[in-house]
Amino acid sequence: MSSVPNSAPAPEPEGPAPSRWPVPAGGPDDVRAALERYGYLADEGLATVVYLSLVMRRPLLLEGDAGVGKTEVAKVLSRWTGGELLRIQCYEGIDVAQAVYEWDYSRQLLHLRAAEARAVSTGASITADVEDELYSERFLVRRPLLAAITADPEGPSPVLLVDEVDRADDDFEAFLLEVLSEHAVTVPELGTFRAVVPPIVVITSNRTRDLHDALKRRCLYHWVDHPTFEREVEIISIRAPSVGPVLAREIAAAVEQLRGLSLYKPPGVAETIDWAEALGVLGRTRLDEAAVEATLGSVLKYREDAEKARAAGLGELVRAASERAS
Ligand SMILES: Nc1ncnc2c1ncn2[C@@H]1O[C@H](COP(=O)(O)OP(=O)(O)O)[C@@H](O)[C@H]1O
Ligand SMILES: [Mg+2]
Repeated sequence: MSSVPNSAPAPEPEGPAPSRWPVPAGGPDDVRAALERYGYLADEGLATVVYLSLVMRRPLLLEGDAGVGKTEVAKVLSRWTGGELLRIQCYEGIDVAQAVYEWDYSRQLLHLRAAEARAVSTGASITADVEDELYSERFLVRRPLLAAITADPEGPSPVLLVDEVDRADDDFEAFLLEVLSEHAVTVPELGTFRAVVPPIVVITSNRTRDLHDALKRRCLYHWVDHPTFEREVEIISIRAPSVGPVLAREIAAAVEQLRGLSLYKPPGVAETIDWAEALGVLGRTRLDEAAVEATLGSVLKYREDAEKARAAGLGELVRAASERAS
């Protein structure tokens, strides 16, 4: 077993990060280069905070609009470090059974039936041992939080992604804070599991509500903004390589214009990539009004937003975008 059930208070992590935590010798620049190798283009702020979270062994809290690239940071970290990605997708009402552990009732039942059958054939009665067996690790289903705490300390640290924590309720947030502070999880029937080495933790929030200060204090915080024009051009070129360089610049410029329209859902990087792919599939090499009209649904996903863009003028959008792009 990779963790030791006991009830002593958790020591704070101290000293340099253990070797199975990647600590890039070249600082934030190394992090940026490593993320880029896995198709993620981070700006200096993000690369720095990822670097600090690895060195300081602190959870990373990424907040920002939907589609700006928060979840992808955890996915790329996992591919880079080789640590298993353990993902908790939060939603209202998420509880211990989905996030931490649950008992495998059907297997427990089978085990109990087998014990009963044995008892009948031997004329003995079911013993307390059988009950203990039912609540042993054999029947424990480890959900991502417990799996992260009990990961093999010899292997690469898993990357625990707590995605869209703003959707979960206060109780879950408080519980998460406790686990992140103690690096321990208690299963009443078995005791406390304590991480030998804490996992790499990435928490994301779309900021549909404010998170508690205590959780923020525990983490290193970074607001993930929409990319700059030049970075978005680069993102299009690596994520939608079928799109030529001129069209890539026009798309990035048009997306920038759309974000300035105070839309209900401004396009994120995800929409930019979708749009570029759609235009690529249609064989476009330049942006024009007809192409924008035909593909508007891949970049704006609300009717009201599409209407707002049309009211502002798609021809004007194309004109301004090509001026910016050139
Ligand atoms: N900086 C970036 N470099 C490369 N791809 C990115 C970047 N930011 C976002 N993406 C891509 O955009 C899409 C949406 O990103 P995601 O992480 O799911 O957004 P969020 O979690 O913020 O809603 C993904 O396909 C991701 O790969
Ligand atoms: Mg996400």
